[in-house]
Amino acid sequence: MNHLFLHCRPGFEKECAAEITDLANDAGFFGYSKTRDNAAFVEFITHEPDGALQLIQQLPFRQMIFTRQWFAGPGRVTDLPVTDRLTPLLAVVESFPPAGALIVETPDTNDGKELGALGKKFAVPFTKALQTRKKLINRSAWQLHLVFLSGTEACVGVSPVANSSQWVMGIPRLRMPSSAPSRATLKLEEAWHHFVPAQEWDDRLALSMKAVDLGAAPGGWTWQLVKRGMFVDAIDNGPMDKALMDSGQVNHILADGFVYEPKKPVDWLVCDIVDKPARVAGMISRWVTKGWCREVVFNLKLPMKQRYAEVKKCEERLMAEMESAGIRATINFKQLYHDREEVTGHLRVLSPSRFGQ
Ligand SMILES: C[S@@+](CC[C@H](N)C(=O)[O-])C[C@H]1O[C@@H](n2cnc3c(N)ncnc32)[C@H](O)[C@@H]1O
Repeated sequence: MNHLFLHCRPGFEKECAAEITDLANDAGFFGYSKTRDNAAFVEFITHEPDGALQLIQQLPFRQMIFTRQWFAGPGRVTDLPVTDRLTPLLAVVESFPPAGALIVETPDTNDGKELGALGKKFAVPFTKALQTRKKLINRSAWQLHLVFLSGTEACVGVSPVANSSQWVMGIPRLRMPSSAPSRATLKLEEAWHHFVPAQEWDDRLALSMKAVDLGAAPGGWTWQLVKRGMFVDAIDNGPMDKALMDSGQVNHILADGFVYEPKKPVDWLVCDIVDKPARVAGMISRWVTKGWCREVVFNLKLPMKQRYAEVKKCEERLMAEMESAGIRATINFKQLYHDREEVTGHLRVLSPSRFGQ
């Protein structure tokens, strides 16, 4: 298997390709990527015959910013006969490890979605045939992916369950809460799903915690914090949603988020201010190095050009500033499904925390 299939947001193929090339090179794997603008996927082909299978086990999926989901396989299966697509695809799967599930995907584009019906229809006989051949079993560390790229072309491959997205195509199915004041609420919910393991939510997103929301109006992110039972200082010169204010858990402060300082440290800082990435990163760094917060979710609006380079620059700056302050922290970025021309950052202080000093 020398072929990695990487799903990404349409329009971010170059960033996805630059990132996988960098990460693969750092891990000692060389190859090249194939991209098409707005295709919503990237193909990375390794020089080593089994490079993709090794890479997908070695590179931590969580480290990848622009890849939504991925799988390793032998490459495109072309010239599928429309009367029998099953036989050639089963032949390809022959060399795969048995998988615990079959996931049928499409590129996240309008053209891709049109192939969804074909994938669904095909999944029924494909599943049966895979089960008969013991390629689909009850439990496995692997899952099998199938993507049709046209009626006659498809990619099949595998990904480790523990090192891939928990969501089909990396797209979470989150329901818009009817009482939330803005759709932006889904960004913070998705960020928590991505950055905070489910079993840690009760400790890290706990009742009565204190939070600051910079650029809070009308209150979609504050709504999520309140839903977890937190008390929130919402900083914005714009108006906050009335029903949310009636919860009694929100203190609306009319101020500039870049100059506001908390009276006491808080558990969470969240920031959805649209500004220059370097300015936002500098502000996050100040909050953490001053011990004003323990954990942060923030948005970085990407420039028109050099988008991958800009994120890496902010990441390196934050890492350098944490190191020189003697703070051990995890710093991660992800272009979430609900992010458009932006990425979401997450920083968590591990030690030593100056929190509360
Ligand atoms: C994308 S909106 C935030 C949406 C919010 N997270 C939600 O879920 O409803 C950005 C907000 O940042 C605010 N903003 C922009 N610059 C700001 C600043 N320097 N300080 C505080 N708020 C700012 C704007 O007034 C706007 O309400």
